[in-house]
Amino acid sequence: MRIILITGKGGVGKTTVSAATAIKAADLGHSTLVMSTDPAHSLSDAFDIPLGDTPTSVVPNLDAQQIDSRQRLEESWGEVRDHLTELFDWSGLKGIEAEELTVFPGMDEVFSLATVREHARSGEYDVIIVDCAPTAETLRLLSLPEVMSWYMDKMFPLSRKVAKVVRPVISKISSIPVANEAVFDAVARFYDRLDGIRELLSDTDVTSARLVMNPEKMVIAEARRTYTYLSLFGYAVDSAIVNRVLPPEVSDPYFDRWHEIQAKHLKDIDEGFRGTDVRRIRLFEEEMIGPELLRVVAQELYGDTDPTEKLSDAQPLRIENEDESKDVALVISVPFTERSDIDLMRHGGELFVTIGSYRRSIVLPDSLQRRTIRGAKIHGGELRVVFTLDGS
Ligand SMILES: Nc1ncnc2c1ncn2[C@@H]1O[C@H](COP(=O)(O)OP(=O)(O)O)[C@@H](O)[C@H]1O
Ligand SMILES: [Mg+2]
Repeated sequence: MRIILITGKGGVGKTTVSAATAIKAADLGHSTLVMSTDPAHSLSDAFDIPLGDTPTSVVPNLDAQQIDSRQRLEESWGEVRDHLTELFDWSGLKGIEAEELTVFPGMDEVFSLATVREHARSGEYDVIIVDCAPTAETLRLLSLPEVMSWYMDKMFPLSRKVAKVVRPVISKISSIPVANEAVFDAVARFYDRLDGIRELLSDTDVTSARLVMNPEKMVIAEARRTYTYLSLFGYAVDSAIVNRVLPPEVSDPYFDRWHEIQAKHLKDIDEGFRGTDVRRIRLFEEEMIGPELLRVVAQELYGDTDPTEKLSDAQPLRIENEDESKDVALVISVPFTERSDIDLMRHGGELFVTIGSYRRSIVLPDSLQRRTIRGAKIHGGELRVVFTLDGS
């Protein structure tokens, strides 16, 4: 069983890559499901067939599904939302603002991911390919269980047991709405749905994330940030896919400067995604729509490689506490066991690591940006860069 998450900024080619990956997997005989959790669904446009909220057959071995996240949210969160609306109403917050606060950003996608988990549990498919929402959204929701607990603790400060006891008392002395059994049931069901999603998606044997980008400055910057954060949260990024690369055959002088610009960006991508697999797709002469053209994309992207395999075994970055101090270490795997000639350079929010001819750049997570580097050492194939808070 494999799950492949395809993510990246809006418009970079996520849906095209998802659909192409899915067709290739199916052609190789894997029972495949491709589903989109991005509310801006376009799988249906990519395959050029109508699709809905239930899996629909596209080609042999391949089903596709566009999750209706609104409906999923309503099913699972309806009662809780009604209770929260009442509560906000009681506190004086009314109308649309109150309603907006009863659902937090990214929540609808959590329910979509619950569907991924259900499919995974059913064992019906060998591989599930997920066309995810744009980067920031996906990130937020991948780190969600913790955020969610915080939110729930604030929203439901009383446990079910306590509520049962205080409800009759409170209702006599105050009009504050106390959650009833149905709301607690809904909350429990919600936790139930969440349960296991993160485990499944951070199981590096099961799930790989693939980051799609274009050779453009802003797009690369965002993809690199996502790479850092996915790695830190324990998700394996097994490939960086650069889409819309100008092919060398394009020799019109109008594009000369573009060739130069892309060449520079491609070099930055190699350094920024060192340690994972980097592959390219050229800018085709037309939009790649329908199974036949998607097969052409897949061939360009994967060649003879089975796209359901792990494309690299990159170890994610980790942050560890240093013993008995407030220092933390950023742990990065490096392809050398013992070398002392490490050159570390920090520039803005980036860390450049050079060891001999090996050069890698890493976008630092926000938590490390306010710290200074105290030292670094290589041990057991890993580079440990120690960060300290000034004045501690
Ligand atoms: N390499 C490419 N060459 C030509 N057209 C492409 C290429 N990649 C994507 N497209 C086209 O660009 C449009 C946007 O791609 P899409 O996959 O929907 O992006 P996203 O899902 O990231 O928003 C689609 O019309 C698609 O056919
Ligand atoms: Mg899309």
